[in-house]
Amino acid sequence: MKDLKNYIETNKERFLQELFELIRIPSISAKENHKQDMYKAAEWIKNSLIKSGADEAKVFDTDGHPVVFGKKIINPSLPTIMVYGHYDVQPAEPLELWTSKPFEPEVRDGKIYARGADDDKGQMFMHFKAFEYLIKTNQLPCNVKFMIEGEEEIGSPSLEKFCSQNKEMLASDVILVSDTTMLGPDIPSITTGLRGLSYCEVEVTGPNRDLHSGLYGGAVANPINILAKMIASLTDEKGNITVKGFYDDVEVISMEERKDMSRAPFKLEEYKKSLDIADVYGEEGYTTMERVGIRPSLDCNGIWGGYIEEGAKTVLPSKAYAKISMRLVPHQDSKKISELFVKHFEAIAPPYVKVKAKLLHGGEGYVSPTDTIEYQAASKALEDVYGIKPIPYRSGGSIPIISLFEKVLGIKSILMGFGLESDAIHSPNENYPLQQFYKGIEAIPYFYKHYAELKK
Ligand code: BES
Ligand code: MN
Ligand code: MN
Repeated sequence: MKDLKNYIETNKERFLQELFELIRIPSISAKENHKQDMYKAAEWIKNSLIKSGADEAKVFDTDGHPVVFGKKIINPSLPTIMVYGHYDVQPAEPLELWTSKPFEPEVRDGKIYARGADDDKGQMFMHFKAFEYLIKTNQLPCNVKFMIEGEEEIGSPSLEKFCSQNKEMLASDVILVSDTTMLGPDIPSITTGLRGLSYCEVEVTGPNRDLHSGLYGGAVANPINILAKMIASLTDEKGNITVKGFYDDVEVISMEERKDMSRAPFKLEEYKKSLDIADVYGEEGYTTMERVGIRPSLDCNGIWGGYIEEGAKTVLPSKAYAKISMRLVPHQDSKKISELFVKHFEAIAPPYVKVKAKLLHGGEGYVSPTDTIEYQAASKALEDVYGIKPIPYRSGGSIPIISLFEKVLGIKSILMGFGLESDAIHSPNENYPLQQFYKGIEAIPYFYKHYAELKK
């Protein structure tokens, strides 16, 4: 690639300043009072695509937050790469745990600290600048489209409809996504699997009003105590999920395949140290990598009820609530799992409480094969930049829209992410190492080059 390193070196400060402008817009999709910020971010993306060299870019309204679409068509007979990313971010709370403000990006120790620095503003923006380089140096080898949404962090509720209504506009040969992690800064890797998700909320009701815990304590069931027991019973002592029928469709992976997967480097001691835990925990018979990569899981994401303000209040609450999510593996259907969960949760409720369980959102997992042109193109691109062949591995995270792209548009995705596990996405002090940001910008043009060549 002509002049690539030099182009990045000359423009690196500008790239960073541009990214900071986007990060400063608090585009939190989950919060109604940030609606204006969603439009502001979408406009910014549109303008940035045009500045980077797109012929056209447009903000599309949806039932939810807007989608930005842009393109550069150099020759309709050439292949088309579509870049997918998301400009929405997770809420920044708890704010007091941030060292610098979440929407005032700052570079410390070679890392950008801010909400969205990695997920996904930083990773998405690498694509804009890689594209800019290809245009400015006259090396773009194929057509490019960009579809950047604003609802990924809330389960992409409007994007399926957007896709099915705009099939022609979105037609392309492959979808390129940087919204996942690599195994380490010097271990190039390609994500070949994402887990599905089923996210439910439950409500447990005891007495018809809050009670004095002295006058009633011991005589009336406390819904928080009951909910805690019910949640605890959702997994057994072997770490298996007890929801009836939960494992029925789980993909069985052969020992041979598992052995193959275990070649991906993983340092248990470092892992424990980085999380400050004495030991890991999970399903018996599986390694830590397998527990997140090829096995499903169930977690309580939040639990509340009763008195949580300052001081003590002696109360036996009327209600208790929890949010419970399940990460799913290939062949598990998120709708079916949610139904099984709701049924199970109602069935295990003791007679002295009433329970309600409902689905908040969900989506399917994704497995991408390694014997495809797009995998080879990504593999060669990373090898060009890192000097070693990347390792395929299945991630525990979810991007439910990826399986819908295949279903609705018939297009496969390649997950070439540059995040690191230490980037603390969704957490306080989210960060993105500058090295990852610039290496990503360097690797992406090679993907274009190899893909266009292989596709000939
Ligand atoms: N980019 C992440 C998903 C991810 C991160 C996949 C790292 C693999 C490695 C994405 O923005 C995300 O957070 N997805 C949500 C799902 C969504 C439906 C809320 C998730 O995984 O919790
Ligand atoms: Mn993301
Ligand atoms: Mn995310």
